[in-house]
Amino acid sequence: MIREYEPRDEQGWVRCRTLAFLETAYFDNVLPQKEHYESLAIELVAEKDGLIVGLIDVEYEIEEGAVCSRGKGLGGMIWHIAVHPDYSRHGIGRQLLAAAEERAAALGLNRLEAWTRDDEWVRQWYRKQDFQLVDAYYHVYFGGDELSGRVKSDVPNLRLVSACAHYTGTEIEQFQAKHQRIHECVCFEKYLE
Ligand SMILES: CC(C)(COP(=O)(O)OP(=O)(O)OC[C@H]1O[C@@H](n2cnc3c(N)ncnc32)[C@H](O)[C@@H]1OP(=O)(O)O)[C@@H](O)C(=O)NCCC(=O)NCCS
Repeated sequence: MIREYEPRDEQGWVRCRTLAFLETAYFDNVLPQKEHYESLAIELVAEKDGLIVGLIDVEYEIEEGAVCSRGKGLGGMIWHIAVHPDYSRHGIGRQLLAAAEERAAALGLNRLEAWTRDDEWVRQWYRKQDFQLVDAYYHVYFGGDELSGRVKSDVPNLRLVSACAHYTGTEIEQFQAKHQRIHECVCFEKYLE
């Protein structure tokens, strides 16, 4: 059953998202609480046998350009979509998206935007739902010696031991030789009918 998120769902929401993201390039992006948004949001869950098995959060614009990174008109940003791995590939993600799209269209939104990392199967899921890949950049993680000469602290007695940086240039090879962890982060966009 797809329904609106309620505050009593929080623990199930957190567990569902954590388990779903554990299988992706966002494996260490763990939230201990549900995220809440500055703007308004469509927040839905899928419930089965008393368990939260899926979720979608779409923060949406009431002022053009306030939430989405691109495009004209009012849009919505999918900050989270996740299906509990024990319930994956049964159409729950597709149904959550369809329910969110229905609400988005009724609110007068013209498009949805979503960002995801390298996981080809997740990208494939977005393509199957008629999203287009429209933008990309990199997340580069630095640790220990990798930081030297690249990132430093100007604060006395503060030594950086790790960092995550956004790289929007075209010469990603300069990092690949030395760095273990680089993710391509891509933007998918779908215009609503
Ligand atoms: C992406 C996601 C929401 C899809 O939900 P779902 O309910 O499992 O997917 P659906 O049933 O709607 O669609 C199934 C399709 O998704 C893809 N897919 C889903 N899980 C997959 C997996 N483990 N391996 C390969 N393909 C998979 C396939 O294309 C599949 O089609 P198929 O079964 O005919 O091959 C879900 O897999 C998930 O939570 N992923 C991790 C979280 C995430 O990355 N979210 C997006 C970034 S914010």
